[in-house]
Amino acid sequence: QKVPAGALLVDKGNHRHFMAKEIYEQPEVISHTFGHYLDLDTETVCLPELPFDPKEVQHISITACGTALYAGAVAEYWLERFGRVPVSTDIASEFRYRETPLAPGGVTIVISQSGETADTLASLRYAKECGQKVVAVVNVPTSTIAREADVVLPILAGPEIGVASTKAFTCQLATLACLSVAFGRAKGVLSADDEHKLVRAFMEVPRLMTEALKLSPEIEVLARTLAKARDVLYLGRGTNYPLSLEGALKLKEISYIHAEGYAGGELKHGPIALIDEKMPVVVIAPHDRIFDKTVSNMEEVAARGGKIILVTDPKGAEAAPVNAVQKLILPEMPATVCPMVYSIPVQLIAYHTAVIMGTDVDQPRNLAKSVTVE
Ligand code: G6P
Repeated sequence: QKVPAGALLVDKGNHRHFMAKEIYEQPEVISHTFGHYLDLDTETVCLPELPFDPKEVQHISITACGTALYAGAVAEYWLERFGRVPVSTDIASEFRYRETPLAPGGVTIVISQSGETADTLASLRYAKECGQKVVAVVNVPTSTIAREADVVLPILAGPEIGVASTKAFTCQLATLACLSVAFGRAKGVLSADDEHKLVRAFMEVPRLMTEALKLSPEIEVLARTLAKARDVLYLGRGTNYPLSLEGALKLKEISYIHAEGYAGGELKHGPIALIDEKMPVVVIAPHDRIFDKTVSNMEEVAARGGKIILVTDPKGAEAAPVNAVQKLILPEMPATVCPMVYSIPVQLIAYHTAVIMGTDVDQPRNLAKSVTVE
């Protein structure tokens, strides 16, 4: 069949929407990203040469917009844990105008799928003026942000057509996870053995994502309830907190249902006032060291009649106390890979809800794929 001149050489395959295709291709796409940054023979992380010595870095600032910002917010936890380096994550449109003092010798990480977002680009320029070394985590290697950065870490997600970002998010996470391990090794926080273990865990991500995609029919059923909601709350702790923000963003972007993400510990500082029997609460909580705290949150929600959708693993499902909980159960996995794999049910919740609502999933109203103006 002849392809019309100028036609986009990307199609939906067997999927109804580009977004579905992009969700489903994540196991394959993320294995390319990891393949680029991991040496499987030596079980080590291999980055391009960095224009700074990670051992000497005293502070890292991360800045981005939208989904890319939430990838950065997850990376903050990893860089602080593995690199023992203080990190601040900022919305690019705030960072660029706040005149944050940035001491020379610091590193700024800018994250952008398109590499053209106006506020992120302006933040990059501000950081350079302040003597920061800039690392760009981008999907488009020929973009302005890639050209102006000191070093580029491509995420290799391939073209992303759906306005709501999916595979770019998980590939940003994969790239940032590798960068965090590189910091951990350089700083001596991670041993060679720790690095090997993490690399082996990263190599499991495509398989775990494939497992996660099998939840799709269950999520489709759940989405019928969500589609009737006026508001949806997402809760998570640790790296699942930024993932809650991303889940809420995804749902509002494509289904137009109002949603908010909160850190579990903040529930009693406000959002609990909203909870009644009409309010679904998506709780993202693998059975980790702070799972008990999330159990208390679920009890608080259940006591007020809120409907809980718990995204967890087998141990978490067993330990969840309340009956009024619908569970989406993922395999057990190391904590570091959770944000990548748990992204799949989070994206599918938004996708199926939007399909039921009958919205334009790939081109939601009022949104643009790339925001090159302020
Ligand atoms: C727009 C898109 C979002 C995206 C954000 C940042 O708002 O609709 O999906 O996350 O821009 O875009 P970037 O290309 O910088 O990642």
